[in-house]
Amino acid sequence: MKLWAGRFDKNTDVLVDELNASIGFDFRMYREDITGSIAHSAMLAKQGIISEEDAKLIAEGLKAILADIEEGRLPFGSDAEDVHMAIEGELTRRIGDAGKRLHTARSRNDQVALDIRLYLKREIVEIKELVLELIETLVNIAEKNTDVIMPAYTHLQRAQPTTFAHYMMAYANMLGRDVTRLEDCLNRMDECPLGSGALTSTTYPIDREFTAKELGFARITQNRLDGVSDRDFAIEFLNDISILMMHLSRFSEEIILWCSWEFKFIELDDAYSTGSSIMPQKKNPDIAELVRGKTGRVYGDLMTLLSVMKALPLAYNKDIHEDKEPLLDAIDTIKKCLPVFTAMLNTMRLNTENMRTAAGKGFINATDCADYLVKKGLPFRDAYTVVGRLVNYCIETGKTLETLGPDEYKSFSTAFDGDVYEAISLETCVAKRNAAGGPSKESVGVQIKYIKEFLNEHGR
Ligand code: ARG
Repeated sequence: MKLWAGRFDKNTDVLVDELNASIGFDFRMYREDITGSIAHSAMLAKQGIISEEDAKLIAEGLKAILADIEEGRLPFGSDAEDVHMAIEGELTRRIGDAGKRLHTARSRNDQVALDIRLYLKREIVEIKELVLELIETLVNIAEKNTDVIMPAYTHLQRAQPTTFAHYMMAYANMLGRDVTRLEDCLNRMDECPLGSGALTSTTYPIDREFTAKELGFARITQNRLDGVSDRDFAIEFLNDISILMMHLSRFSEEIILWCSWEFKFIELDDAYSTGSSIMPQKKNPDIAELVRGKTGRVYGDLMTLLSVMKALPLAYNKDIHEDKEPLLDAIDTIKKCLPVFTAMLNTMRLNTENMRTAAGKGFINATDCADYLVKKGLPFRDAYTVVGRLVNYCIETGKTLETLGPDEYKSFSTAFDGDVYEAISLETCVAKRNAAGGPSKESVGVQIKYIKEFLNEHGR
């Protein structure tokens, strides 16, 4: 029988029950639901709203239910609409009238708002750890490869030389922002909505600060209409996960390119690659492709919740019940992707010669050649034009800036001397870029130190 059956003359249609039920997915929040209910009943007793004996029975009953669920002894059928009703119903079956007092001064609306916050707070901590692990891996790779020269690209055209370490640290910085974004999100959602009731709270003398403290929240939500109908925190979380996935997807794209025969900068470990059912030669970067693909899925989760919340009047509307599936899907997806991505990077091998060879072609030292002329007194625009002509000449004659003779240089500008070769060597190009944030060994060393401090501050 439904908890609300008193108001109705008929049972709901079975198809309605099916559409209405969320037990299939919100059951994952059983721990949060039980913790919230124990804190709520303790508060009710402290305030003299229910007796201490009832609160004790409720707490013991709920703890026994929790143990039964965790041991797999309590399979909830689909007759319960959602996790809240399933647990309350079971409690009442077990302890009778005391169980029926649990829901005093509470609504499922503040209950579910509480449960999701508690659930997300725990998940954010776990996801953050996975991101930190990935950052740690990138720092390790960077430390070993500060001398490995590779081309850096704009428009996917070879642009200027950099090092593999510099490249890895770029991603480490992006992921560092993901960590702090998740922390900001957690701080903002660290408000307890319990006590909002259905929408305007209750006339019972409740103590919201008490439950907030019991449940480890920093503060209470300040407006009760807002407290029950707000899902900003969930949207913000999905946004943060979307940005994180976007970073992984960009990285995946590079991994896929680097694995191709056209680049062959890296080789993924067999354990993190897949073959083809028909082409015997194939070794495919499926992990990176899946992460790139699943990014679209997580964006979908974000768009779902944004669209669900759009145009909802205050306060609770059943539409909000659609918040959990996208949230859980994004959580499952990111938690599956991150550890595999980290392991894939941990086990990849670098073809450093191929990187060096690629950097040696494509005139990626042309900017440095122009800068050389600037040091010899030419205005940058003139130097730029001279080197542009030089590159054109090289392309026509099948040469590179390194293989041009001194006379050929002189014929383009008398400012060229024999020291041009040293000035445009890729090693010089990288070493001279030693201002903060650059690819030189010292600059990357500073970046590594900075991220290591960041990791340290985050308990690593
Ligand atoms: N299962 C519902 C949800 O997830 C719980 C809140 C139901 N409240 C209501 N007034 N029908 O949103």
